[in-house]
Formats: sequence, structure tokens, C-alpha cells
Amino acid sequence: MKFFVDTADIDQIKELHSYGMVDGVTTNPSIIAKSGRDIFEVTEEICKITDGPVSAEVVALDFETMLAEGRKLAKIADNIAVKVPLTWAGLQTCKALSDEGTMVNVTLCFSANQALLAAKAGATFISPFIGRLDDINLDGLELIEDIRTIYDNYGYDTQILAASIRSANHMSECAKIGADVATAPPAVIKAMASHVLTDKGLAGFMADVEKAGIKIL
Ligand code: E4P
Repeated sequence: MKFFVDTADIDQIKELHSYGMVDGVTTNPSIIAKSGRDIFEVTEEICKITDGPVSAEVVALDFETMLAEGRKLAKIADNIAVKVPLTWAGLQTCKALSDEGTMVNVTLCFSANQALLAAKAGATFISPFIGRLDDINLDGLELIEDIRTIYDNYGYDTQILAASIRSANHMSECAKIGADVATAPPAVIKAMASHVLTDKGLAGFMADVEKAGIKIL
């Protein structure tokens, strides 16, 4: 499973990249707003850190403006994936940009039918939002499973990019289901390394190192 980092925090992206944990980056208008930076400037900087797809989201709601915005965003770097919302205008933009050879990430997906439409419109990625479904007492992971089944039934190339991930458990469940990509905030990716028995085991080893005076260097 590929890991995308769901942030525009340059230091965090660089740090995770140095561990080999960054296969791409996702942003959205809220993430860009949180960065406090200009969308073009920060996105270009992110594209220089990773060769993987970097999602940059349009902000218009109508097809013509979305398409113009998408074309402008795509010029930032070769690894830009233009992110469009799952509306009819977004799907139309997806089809047009995909036909031009631009990667497209269709976002704000909350149903299997929406994912089916995105695949037919030629999306490179579909972004189902797990956490936001869980927030309203629906099962976000079940949606990932449903989309996996449907895409496999028909051999769609669109990659399932599990989004709105809130926990390390979401990451392992997505991997078990077979999501192609999971995008998560840096803190969630870091939390994947934690286990209480790892901490306990290491403390025991360190106590014995001290007791026996073991030295390697
Ligand atoms: C990424 O593509 C999505 O925009 C993001 O994962 C949404 O996460 P949130 O529901 O925590 O805002």
C-alpha cells in the first residue's frame, strides 16, 4: 500500500520522506489554509520533495472555471494530481483533465456509486473519506471494501486512495482490504510504529545492557 501524507507541513513531509514513508502528498483547501502559505508556492515546494503524486484541489464549483484552475495547478509540476470534488461538474472536469493526460484525484467520496462514476470518468484516484463517515456513525472501512469489490469486478484502473484517516488501525485495515493508497496525517503514520510491548521489551533489553556492560562501539 502506498502512503501519501495528508499535510502541507514541509518539515513533516521532509522528515517522513527521509524514512521512505512518503509515496505522495495530499492537500485540500483546509490544509492549505492551515499552512498559511500561498497555494502555488507551498505546492511547488512539496513537489520538489517527492516525485510521487501531489494532490492540489480546485476551488471553483462550475466546470469551465474548475477546468481552468486544474490546468493552472497542473503546470506547477509533472507530479501534480488535480483534485476535484465529486459533483457532476467535478466529474466533467475529471474526464477533460484525464483526457489531457493529467492525473486526477476525485475527492469527497462517500458512496460506492460515487466511486463508480469517478472510475468511469477516468479518475486516477478516488478518495473515499473514512473518518467523516465514522463521525456520523456509518462504516468508512466498509465503503473501502465495497469500492475494492466493484473496481475488481470490472477491472477499473482507478486507485483507491483511502482518506480522512484518523488512526493507525484505519491504516492496517485499509491495507488488509487492499486499498491502493492511504493518505494520513503525519501523526497517524508515526503512531503506526508504537506498541506497548515494543517499549516494554526495549526497556528490559536496556536494563540488561546496563547490568552486563555490553558495548558494541
Ligand atoms: C485528503 O485527501 C482529504 O482531504 C483528507 O484526508 C480529509 O481528512 P479530514 O476528514 O480529517 O479532514
